[in-house]
Amino acid sequence: MTEPVSPAREIAAGYATDGAALELGTVVVEGMADPSAKVRIPLAMMNRHGLIAGATGTGKTKTLQVIAEQLSAAGVPVVMADIKGDLSGLSRPGTTNDKVASRAADTGDDWTPAGSTVEFVSLGTEGIGVPIRATITSFGPILLSKVLGLNATQESVLGLIFHWADSRGLALLDLKDLRAVIAHLLSDEGKAELKGIGGVSAATAGVILRALTNLEADGGDTFFGEPEIDPSDLLRVNADGTGVITLFELGQQAARPVLFSTFLMWILADLFEFLPEAGDIDKPKLVFIFDESHLLFTDSSKAFEEQVVQTVKLIRSKGVGVFFCSQQPTDIPNEVLSQLGARIQHALRAFTPDDQKALSKTVRTYPTTKTYDLEEALTSLGTGEAIVTVLSEKGAPTPVAWTMLRAPRSLMDTIGPDAITAAATASGLQAKYGPTIDRESAYEKLNAKVLVEQAAPQASAPVPTAKKEKEEPGMVQEVLGNSAVKSFLRSAASAAGREITRSIFGTARRKR
Ligand SMILES: Nc1ncnc2c1ncn2[C@@H]1O[C@H](COP(=O)(O)OP(=O)(O)OP(=O)(O)O)[C@@H](O)[C@H]1O
Ligand SMILES: [Mg+2]
Repeated sequence: MTEPVSPAREIAAGYATDGAALELGTVVVEGMADPSAKVRIPLAMMNRHGLIAGATGTGKTKTLQVIAEQLSAAGVPVVMADIKGDLSGLSRPGTTNDKVASRAADTGDDWTPAGSTVEFVSLGTEGIGVPIRATITSFGPILLSKVLGLNATQESVLGLIFHWADSRGLALLDLKDLRAVIAHLLSDEGKAELKGIGGVSAATAGVILRALTNLEADGGDTFFGEPEIDPSDLLRVNADGTGVITLFELGQQAARPVLFSTFLMWILADLFEFLPEAGDIDKPKLVFIFDESHLLFTDSSKAFEEQVVQTVKLIRSKGVGVFFCSQQPTDIPNEVLSQLGARIQHALRAFTPDDQKALSKTVRTYPTTKTYDLEEALTSLGTGEAIVTVLSEKGAPTPVAWTMLRAPRSLMDTIGPDAITAAATASGLQAKYGPTIDRESAYEKLNAKVLVEQAAPQASAPVPTAKKEKEEPGMVQEVLGNSAVKSFLRSAASAAGREITRSIFGTARRKR
């Protein structure tokens, strides 16, 4: 007689892989973890995206840490934001204690301390990491509107202003360039042009100008400018084959959530522009993790949400995986949620009627399970436990698994601001990104009253010109749900060469 397979083993059978996988932990049934019943995400499925959710203190950040360090070990670069400062420990080997040892035993993990290569970066020059910048031109009007808190009308006006600057070949490198352009359009000599753009009222342009001034006064401007981040610096693999983890140290900027979350979205859109189609992959080219990702969708415009959905949908084919991390899965729009193949749901609270509603909704997103009462399970998970379902190597949802998560092998704590500063100062990226560059752009041109039409000829013009989308016209069309973006491309076709073309999110990319 063969022994019947235990429910834990039966679930784990759904997680068996031929290729490499990230080990999440082991199956828990009736309160007992079975160290031999492994729960894992196939590495080849990491570009099918995922969600990590759970109430505060339930283990989300440690789960991110477990995933990031294994990706790095498998040779996959990772980009993530260190919102609370507790992820810097990824760079150091962890320390063991009774809890770690008992978790290692429960999860069948031959735990040994190990740190990963971490590049500490910051948005702009005010942080403790290597400064990362974007130009206003490539940031584009949709994302900038989000940062400035503009309404839909103001957003479309900003789009037209960008369009005007793009078509005149005026590079908007930093905030003062954009201010100069708007000031020009509001000035006596610029008035006629303002009329010519159509639909732009001086009052709205004035509102945008004030919003820009506020952003500057708030110190939120130092990440607009040059040198702009080169996406290949986020895709680095060490000589020993391990992937580099780029950690955005937010520090003070954690108080400006819209700013940094929008900036991270730009980085993702920029990577989309930069990366070629990847076809079938055995591991992702990069995994991008949005912690506190509800911030991305707070007060977001329809145009913005549509573009997030499109980016997430399309970037998979470039071999990039995106993981959203949030307290409530309901913080994330349904259209985005439906794109996420892996779900790691830590404990949810069910205190209020709203909590209860969110809980029932979450339960409905899972495959059916005979083993667990999901509503009860989701409210009684222990710290560092989660309800998991992922995509198998064949792309089918795996059985629902109450999972005891592994303990991170890296340090479960911050390494502190001094150590982060020291690492950033010693970084090889410092020479490239440390000093701010201020080359001739719209501000200087308009100030010098150089008429736009007489601007330097194309060959010598230091204007960031986005590469023309020739590879995937179909895809670009698909991306362009936004009429402002459409008009950019239309006009680009009519005045070849000098203009700046825009695609996803209205972002643009300089020539490489
Ligand atoms: N996988 C794990 N291995 C070991 N300990 C863990 C694990 N997950 C959680 N813990 C313990 O629980 C604590 C809280 O976890 P964590 O910081 O990841 O929660 P969180 O969900 O990110 O909380 P917040 O929403 O407040 O950021 C950790 O400091 C750690 O002690
Ligand atoms: Mg956390």
